[in-house]
Amino acid sequence: MKTVILGGTRGMGRAVARALVERGDSVFLLGRQSSDLEKCAKDLEHRSAGQAQVPTAICDLEDPSGFDAALDAADEALGGFDTVVITAGLFGTQEKLEEDPEFARRMLTVNFTNTVVFCENVRRRLLERGGGTLCVFSSVAGERGRKPVVLYGSSKAGLSRYLEGLDHRDREKGLVTICVKPGFVKTGMTEGLEPPPFAGTPEQVATRVVRALSRGEPEVYTPGPWRFVMMVIRCLPRFVMRKVGF
Ligand SMILES: NC(=O)c1ccc[n+]([C@@H]2O[C@H](COP(=O)([O-])OP(=O)(O)OC[C@H]3O[C@@H](n4cnc5c(N)ncnc54)[C@H](OP(=O)(O)O)[C@@H]3O)[C@@H](O)[C@H]2O)c1
Repeated sequence: MKTVILGGTRGMGRAVARALVERGDSVFLLGRQSSDLEKCAKDLEHRSAGQAQVPTAICDLEDPSGFDAALDAADEALGGFDTVVITAGLFGTQEKLEEDPEFARRMLTVNFTNTVVFCENVRRRLLERGGGTLCVFSSVAGERGRKPVVLYGSSKAGLSRYLEGLDHRDREKGLVTICVKPGFVKTGMTEGLEPPPFAGTPEQVATRVVRALSRGEPEVYTPGPWRFVMMVIRCLPRFVMRKVGF
């Protein structure tokens, strides 16, 4: 695969990039800080035992004017990419987002509006070349309206619905859309939060995502038990959701 990764400088994106390079795929990294990109590209080149060159370009989800140039650079370096993985996103606790409306606006814009704008650019490019794979990290937080994640969860709910719509409409045209819904995963994003049962690691998630990329699975809950946790949460009636604190 010739894969572009937006968000590969940290957490789950970095683990996915490592897993792909280690199995011999070509990877292009997009991110917002050149020093981080260079450091990660060197790490990936080292892991591929010198076999891979990992080019990079700047792409900030807060600045859609740069999306075209970033994807052009990836296309040129990879000779036409066939897969795009987006793990980039922002998180804030409900408390922090309510205290800081400007941060809440940025989080909503990055996680929903600008991620969808970026995906639309990718979708057009992949369909023009007959198809490809678009794999985007949403969250189990988007499955139900829940007290601790009212704002963050709503950004991911919108993203999940968009990806589901693409899967329904464009799969037969050759565009494989994969919506990854991680549960709690121990990364910089969740630092300082108490890990619940079934908390996972970026490496666990990466292994599962690489399998989903090979199989073209439309929806992935990871780590695995979160599929069953969310099955239960989806069934809870509204009066129960109003009472419980999770
Ligand atoms: N961790 C969890 O428990 C969990 C659970 C469910 C869903 N998720 C979702 O899974 C994805 C990956 O999460 P993670 O835990 O691996 O997060 P992370 O370690 O905090 O990494 C987030 C990545 O997003 C990038 N990013 C943030 N804002 C950006 C922007 N404006 N433009 C471009 N890149 C930007 C960061 O780049 P910099 O290096 O420049 O900061 C970083 O590479 C996210 O979408 C998150 O919402 C996480």
